[in-house]
Amino acid sequence: MTIYLNGQFMPLEDAKIPVLDRGFIFGDGVYEVIPVYSRRPFRLEAHLQRLQHSLDSIRLDNPHSISGWTAIIGELIARNTPDDQYLYLHITRGVARRDHPFPNPAVPATVFVMSNPLLPPASDLCASGVDAVTAEDNRWQRCDIKAISLLPNVLLRQKAVDAGSAETVLIRPASNETPAFLTEGAASNIFVVKNGVLLAPPKNHLMLPGITYDVILEIARANSIPCQIRTIAATEVFDADELLLTSSTREVMAITRLDGKPVGNAVPGPMFKQIYQHYQDFKMNVMRASHE
Ligand code: PDD
Repeated sequence: MTIYLNGQFMPLEDAKIPVLDRGFIFGDGVYEVIPVYSRRPFRLEAHLQRLQHSLDSIRLDNPHSISGWTAIIGELIARNTPDDQYLYLHITRGVARRDHPFPNPAVPATVFVMSNPLLPPASDLCASGVDAVTAEDNRWQRCDIKAISLLPNVLLRQKAVDAGSAETVLIRPASNETPAFLTEGAASNIFVVKNGVLLAPPKNHLMLPGITYDVILEIARANSIPCQIRTIAATEVFDADELLLTSSTREVMAITRLDGKPVGNAVPGPMFKQIYQHYQDFKMNVMRASHE
């Protein structure tokens, strides 16, 4: 596997970073995950825009222009074997003596990009759906930043693995003003289906603005699927007809059991089937267009 590190392409085994890198010491950095289908990055512009939002939010200058990123990404895709890949972009505040404030003067950012094979979710999981568990969303108030400091997400996701499940659905606890509500998954966005309506939590500082989330809403609008973007109470999650999980690496999947109880009829429902099919068609059309 060929990776990119600070201006050079090299085998993964040769990539080294100093132990004083602020990513290693403080988790001081941001990342992106970009799917690549038929060697074409999917929704590249949207991913680079979200990267810019993350960098702006942590007050780190973007080390590359859009055309600079496009060139690095294009070359990395070409240097790796699979046609379908996912790219991991990782930018940290660089290497400096350990001290919490930003290095002054600033030091060069560390920029790392790798490619991994992208395997679509197994067909049996698309047919059966997956199990999920719920947990209290105890993360910070800036979940819109795709930060590399992912310890809360790691711990929350492990709860699902410990329960033999595929994902943890996160619920912010009730406060004086609001009842408990859905935010997202530990590494995905979550949609609720009730009475034929697709419900999506609004993008705000408590969830990552998913690129796949946007694709699903575009699909819904283009196909006259009723949808609402609004706060979703925890009770609505437990009472859902269907639950959908979305991410760049898992595309769209049906959650058919939640906390060991069936969701709807415990099989992928009509909304999932419709959206899944549209997603596959949409992907194919975009890829076909980008080859023309
Ligand atoms: N994660 N919410 C969280 C917390 C996530 O980590 C992710 C994706 C998403 C979905 O975003 P998108 O549709 O843009 O992939 C939502 C990636 C895949 C990861 O960390 O590996």
